[in-house]
This record gives sequence, structure tokens and C-alpha cells, in this order.
Amino acid sequence: MATQQPTGTDMPIGVFDSGIGGLSVLRHIQAVLPQENLIYVADSGFAPYGGKPEAVIVARTLAIAEFLLIRGVKALVVACNTATGAAILGLRERYPGLPIVGVEPGLKPAAAITQTRTVGVLATERTLDSIKFNLLHEQITEATGVRFLLQPCSGLADQVEKGELRSAATAALVQRYVAPLIEGGADTLVLGCTHYPFLQPLIEEIARRAGGQPVHIIDTGAAVARQLTRMLSQHGLQRQVDGNRALTCFTTGSRTTMTTALLHLLKLQADVTEIADISSSEL
Ligand code: DGL
Repeated sequence: MATQQPTGTDMPIGVFDSGIGGLSVLRHIQAVLPQENLIYVADSGFAPYGGKPEAVIVARTLAIAEFLLIRGVKALVVACNTATGAAILGLRERYPGLPIVGVEPGLKPAAAITQTRTVGVLATERTLDSIKFNLLHEQITEATGVRFLLQPCSGLADQVEKGELRSAATAALVQRYVAPLIEGGADTLVLGCTHYPFLQPLIEEIARRAGGQPVHIIDTGAAVARQLTRMLSQHGLQRQVDGNRALTCFTTGSRTTMTTALLHLLKLQADVTEIADISSSEL
């Protein structure tokens, strides 16, 4: 017998990322919307997205969105800056009635707190290349006069995927990417990739060593969760029932890696299903 899918406000919210990075957003969603059912998809079998051509990221994003919609999601969170930059406009066009929340580097909050008027932006190559990011960059630079030092961080999301949050190799990469930003005058760093909040202690430590003082760190996870809350209530989709919320996880990578990540990064135990691939043939 086919399982009955939840309906109405009981329907889950779909959250996805190229891998486990989106868990840094999921933790904020769980904090502000503790009653909501969630489905998380980690496209770890295809991570990293950051160096891949835009067309590939668009195709992956649309396929994952379809996969989630088949499972009856009432809203979608693109918990990946790279996928947001490449594909959110296409997603909104394809699903005009669906609440869709994306994530983008927090240039605006960074511009509001920098004292040196210089901000470092850590993100993937693809995010920094995207039209969406470049429009935002232009707009905030024009409005505030703040200088943004853009740093593509090839390989950094991979270290998080491997669970290497403090290894020598990860520290060497962070040193290579962060030190020049601090030496260039940045007192604020934007984490423009959802994998990087898991490296925040290391980034702070290395930045402090490079500049002799603490830096401000901007992570937009909490803002994304607030935006999702607003959209759900605008659409009358917020779940009011307390308790019995479910978290269901899927990964195109390894089940063990995902289970370990959930446990180590979020102290969560959840069902994880390995899926060989997600493609539009799902339909
Ligand atoms: N977590 C993703 C982001 O926010 C990207 C990591 C990757 O390169 O796959 O941009």
C-alpha cells in the first residue's frame, strides 16, 4: 500500500545543498521553526558545485527540486549560495506558486558593521562569477562605498565534506585564503558558502593571528530561517502543531558520511537514505 503523504501545513519543507553545508542553514530553521517537518537533500555525490559549469548546477538544482516536490514539500530552501546564484531565478519561473528561499553572501550586513570599510568575501568561484552576485556586489558597493575583497576558496567546501574541520590541510587552505584579506584591511569576513560556518572557529583563529584582533563574521543562516518564517506565514503554511516533527535525509553520496555529519555537526540522529542519483526521470 502506498504511504499517505502529509497534506496542508503538515507537508515538509525541502532543504538542499551540494552536500552537508546546508546543515548550517537547517540548524537555524530548526531553531526558529521547531514544529516543522523537514526533508534535507545533500547532493554530496556531485559536490563540490563551486567549480562546475553553471548549466550543470542548474540541472542538478531543478532535478533535486523535482525530487522534493514529488515528496510533497510545501516550500523550498536552496541552502547553497552557488545553486542560488546559478538557478534560483529558473526555479522561481518553473514553480511560481511555491515559496522558495535562497541564500546569498551577506554583503549588506557586512557593510553595516565594518569599521575599516573593507570586507572579505569567502565564496565559491561559481558564486563570485554569477550575475546575481555581481549585481548585489555592484549595488552594495554603490550604496555604501565599502570595498569588498572577493576570495574564491577552491577546495574548502571539500574539506568540510570530508569532515576535516581542523586538519593541517584545512588550516593551510584557510590561511591561504583568509590572511591576504586581513592584510588587505578587512575587519569583517562574509561566509558566502554554507559549508564555511562549520569552519568558523578556525577562520576566526587564523584571521585573529593575521590581524592581531578579532574579526566580525557574517553568516546568513539565521536570516534565511527568518525569511522562510515570513514566507510560510504569508502563504498560511506555518505548521501550528507542537511535537512529532520529522527530519528525513537523502544523500547522493555516502549514508555513513551523512549520518556522521548530522551527529557531529548538529548532534542529530536522523534517517538517511542513500540515493544513487536524482534525475528528471523521477517524474
Ligand atoms: N555549500 C555551497 C554554497 O553555499 C557550495 C559548496 C560547493 O562548492 O559545492 O555555495
